[in-house]
Amino acid sequence: MLKIGVLVSGGGTNLQAIIDSIESGYIKNAEIVTVISSNPEAYALKRAEKHGISGICIRKRDFQGNEEFLKALEEHLESLGVELIVLAGFMTVLGKSFTEKYKNRIINIHPALIPSFCGDGFYGLKVHEAALEKGVKITGATVHFVNEETDGGPIILQKAVNVEDNDTPETLQRRVMEQAEWKIFPEAVKLISEGKIMVEGNKVRRLL
Ligand code: GAR
Repeated sequence: MLKIGVLVSGGGTNLQAIIDSIESGYIKNAEIVTVISSNPEAYALKRAEKHGISGICIRKRDFQGNEEFLKALEEHLESLGVELIVLAGFMTVLGKSFTEKYKNRIINIHPALIPSFCGDGFYGLKVHEAALEKGVKITGATVHFVNEETDGGPIILQKAVNVEDNDTPETLQRRVMEQAEWKIFPEAVKLISEGKIMVEGNKVRRLL
């Protein structure tokens, strides 16, 4: 059983998609051992509680500095034997020492087709605002491994979603979640838990 720690900051719909995929048996070889939130009010923590998963708030501002924060985060993850860290709408940048320590063991969902609309400052609704501003006809979501470059790690899965003429950032966000994020994020966790993902440099190869 692959032990997963899910890091969240908000509503937690992607966390929910992974919980549902484990409960339905779509993901067979993984369990969520902790949900860590950067926000004590995050609805994601309630979702965890409803499914009997223990949740905790570990946020940067409660520590003297970034090092202390990361130390607490690492200690918590290590104490539970977490093998895969899943960033599901987690809005704190983790930094180089952390991403190097957990190389190819942290995955993130981004609500656009990387390398479009990604990097520093592109998160949540801002991503969809930028896509509408640019007038793209297709956007989507990307699951990738996390390295020191924001949204720059090896890409695991992507899925395209159409942009409609009358979209607002909110309607586009919802469609990207429904048609892409909630599908490819559990799929990536499933593939990793089955040992079907291999990283070669900056490329991911999917084993049959
Ligand atoms: C999701 O759309 C996720 O792709 C995005 O935040 C949202 C979290 O929603 N993540 C980023 O923008 C990261 N750069 P959720 O809390 O309902 O899963």
